[in-house]
Amino acid sequence: MTIQETARSNTKTSVGRLPAIRGSLAASPHFLNIFRPRSVTIEPSMRSVTELSISERLRQRFLKASRILVLTGAGVSAESGVPTFRGGGNSTVWKGMPFEVISSARMVDQDLSAVWEWFDFRRNLLQPLNPNRAHNEIANWQDRFSEFTLVTQNIDGLHQKAGSRDVFELHGSIWRVRCVSCQARFEILSSQPRAEACPDCGAPVRPDVVLFGEILPACAFEQAAAAAATCELCFVIGTSALVYPAAGLPELAQAAGAFVCEVNPERTPLSDRCDESMLGRAGEVLPLFSNLSKESDAQATATRVRTKSLETRLTAKD
Ligand code: OAD
Repeated sequence: MTIQETARSNTKTSVGRLPAIRGSLAASPHFLNIFRPRSVTIEPSMRSVTELSISERLRQRFLKASRILVLTGAGVSAESGVPTFRGGGNSTVWKGMPFEVISSARMVDQDLSAVWEWFDFRRNLLQPLNPNRAHNEIANWQDRFSEFTLVTQNIDGLHQKAGSRDVFELHGSIWRVRCVSCQARFEILSSQPRAEACPDCGAPVRPDVVLFGEILPACAFEQAAAAAATCELCFVIGTSALVYPAAGLPELAQAAGAFVCEVNPERTPLSDRCDESMLGRAGEVLPLFSNLSKESDAQATATRVRTKSLETRLTAKD
């Protein structure tokens, strides 16, 4: 069985003004919902990363920032072989059902076994996959900045597999089940079949994933929003920026004065609003920053060497 994708004949997607979200972001609870925009036109475009370079202003921001927030979506895992939900004018369909339907709270009530079939399929697909260069680069960043926050909409666990710590999983994890009655959560071990019923109370279990129409995990969004409101630099990587409340985080960051940089091979509703849009694949764009890190390390070493020689001269003079 494969995930089918419905190709739209017209690759132009009509979207519209972003809603005034700041007020609603401050309010709780945060329901998962898709923003159905009305009027801006997104044109898919693919630009080779060889044409890409890091602009001087982004370079400066990256070298000087100490508080950084990274928001990722399905696109960051695309080069690991994980299918995205949207992109290139396509949208995922599972057995004739749009994924927003099969991934909905209503479907858990109506047909839990169909929901499990969809999530078991996806988990089996993910099982052998490994992090790609984008995940690895992001994992390297966590020790580079004094305050680093990684927020993901992905449920695939690939950031953690790459070594990222303390990841805010806004939409939960495909590697956990949750009891529909007592809400106890259990890890799914790749070596064992997943639980069919809650080991504590015997009630049915469901994927520990946020579905459409459901509320995000307690505090997860609030903590991510707090980090967005205080960061200096915000990267938005591999997301169509259509699913709220996650898609509101870059706007929060920008409103608080952060520099917002999007990395995506296609334009999104965020592209015209962010400070920099790097049109390219995450696995090709992000490694450009690793040279920058080395460059800045070299600069830092040069500074240390200069300082040291100054100290030596001062000592010699004394
Ligand atoms: P989408 O599938 O909506 O968007 C994926 C984005 O990744 C698109 O904008 C692509 O252009 C981009 N992309 C594709 N390949 C890429 C690459 N190599 N590098 C960088 N970007 C690339 O995924 P999300 O925005 O994550 O929620 O979707 C948000 C939520 O909608 C998901 O968490 C999921 C879905 O419903 C749930 O299922 C709860």
